[in-house]
Amino acid sequence: MALNSIGLNTEKTKELANDLNTLLANFQIYYQNLRGIHWNIKGKRFFDLHVKFEELYTDANVKVDEIAERILTLGVTPLHTFEDYTNAAKVPVGKNISQDEKAVNLIVESLTELLKIERAILDKSDDADDEGTNSMMSDFITEQEKTVWMMKAWLGETV
Ligand SMILES: [Fe+2]
Repeated sequence: MALNSIGLNTEKTKELANDLNTLLANFQIYYQNLRGIHWNIKGKRFFDLHVKFEELYTDANVKVDEIAERILTLGVTPLHTFEDYTNAAKVPVGKNISQDEKAVNLIVESLTELLKIERAILDKSDDADDEGTNSMMSDFITEQEKTVWMMKAWLGETV
């Protein structure tokens, strides 16, 4: 079993980095969804939601960079074109969403897809003894689950 210079199985690491590229692409779609609803939101809850969506896209922006730098740490080039992002999209692309409940639902649907990708990565990173990716995924999962709860609570629903 060939190990790379950070002590991880070379083959498994490549595969993980490719999966992280899928996550990166989908995080970029999520980020752009948040920009879209930040800009286009209308109605009586405008001021609250405009600020909340900015808070979420600022956080997503930080995570996008963390994912890309993890991919580089694992020896692979992070995807960086819009074309690659849309080709890998599993997160729904929100367009012309200005109604508040539709906007919040878009966040929930996006996070549900991101969580699926992250859980699949977590399984593999565990198997590859890749603690760096492991802890990143578990932090993301915990935070996003909490955000889903809050968005669902705002909608008057449970998870
Ligand atoms: Fe803004």
